Amino acid sequence: MSKYLRIPGMVDPHVHLRDLEWAHKATFASETAAALAGGYWAILDMPNTPPSTIDHAALELKLDTIQHQAVCDWGLYFGASQGGNQAEYAGVFSQVCGLKIYCNATTGTLLVEDQALREAHFAAWPVGKPIAVHAEGDTVAEILELVRKFHKPTHFCHISTAYEIYLLRLAKEEGLPVTVGVTPHHLYLDEDDARAMGSLGLMKPLLKTKADQQALWQAISDEVVDVIESDHAPHALIEKYSANPPYGVPGLETTLPLMALAVADERLSVERLVDLVAINPQRIFGLTPPPDTYTLVDLHETYVIDNANMRTLCGWSPFDGIKVHGRVMEVWVRGQYVFDGENVLVEAGFGQNVAATSEISQ
Ligand code: NCD
Ligand code: ZN
Repeated sequence: MSKYLRIPGMVDPHVHLRDLEWAHKATFASETAAALAGGYWAILDMPNTPPSTIDHAALELKLDTIQHQAVCDWGLYFGASQGGNQAEYAGVFSQVCGLKIYCNATTGTLLVEDQALREAHFAAWPVGKPIAVHAEGDTVAEILELVRKFHKPTHFCHISTAYEIYLLRLAKEEGLPVTVGVTPHHLYLDEDDARAMGSLGLMKPLLKTKADQQALWQAISDEVVDVIESDHAPHALIEKYSANPPYGVPGLETTLPLMALAVADERLSVERLVDLVAINPQRIFGLTPPPDTYTLVDLHETYVIDNANMRTLCGWSPFDGIKVHGRVMEVWVRGQYVFDGENVLVEAGFGQNVAATSEISQ
């Protein structure tokens, strides 16, 4: 038996790869390499990078660009627009992994605050691929009303408070088709860290209290939380240090070692870790890893996260200086050795669109 943990087809269902008009922050090439270094088979890219992925032309541009650049497999979300772009849905559905609705403000211009318009988006999105929502606080309750009405599988991204967990726990008990993601930064950092970190600790949702953090860990144990997602949101340091810093922190390369640290600290079982980073996101987004697609992790190796070693183009981590457990040793995709712990071993364009084969069971 290998001394390494073997994880089948790791999936991060919440990343912002940038490129296009934000290629100075990060590119499909740089961030898919960072994803392999983080152990991932596949990552799902959010629609808020300009030009926003809210119409057929913007989607085609993104598809055309990423397919020549990616070294890991990938999917793209389509974004719900403020102007009401439901007429686009039928035409783009087969090429995307799901719909993203921004119900509260964050980086980018996608924001749907009007409940009647949110309802129109929920009504129009075809069944078979999930709706992912950015919903905070009472907005969670507003979205739950729509889930109750339409019964469409809905993933609640980056949940960060005890109150939101309370609402989603009840929703699960009620039998609603909801799933929950949390990020490593909300699990490991709190409002005190935010004060100390300045704009490097600025992201949406904001870092919360220690009591909120405790509720997230409890919800991981209770299986209210389904997924650990990075919300990888690279911004250049010069932007983060500017007078008007954007929201977001990178995370693709630090999620697995931080969760392996939780295993070492006995906050998480190995089985639960595998569910949170691979099995559950596969199920929620209807993704079947191709044969011979897995990651080998040395759970016992310890090291210190260092900005100097980050592959993300932004070149920094909110966890710089933190000692973690667990090193990605090998990543295999479709029987091909794609990452050896140090080097990416495949050419740009190796990565494939997972939407071609995705389908969730209702
Ligand atoms: C994200 C970004 O920078 O694109 N920022 C963030 O703080 N998480 C947008 C988002 O997902 O909210
Ligand atoms: Zn995000």
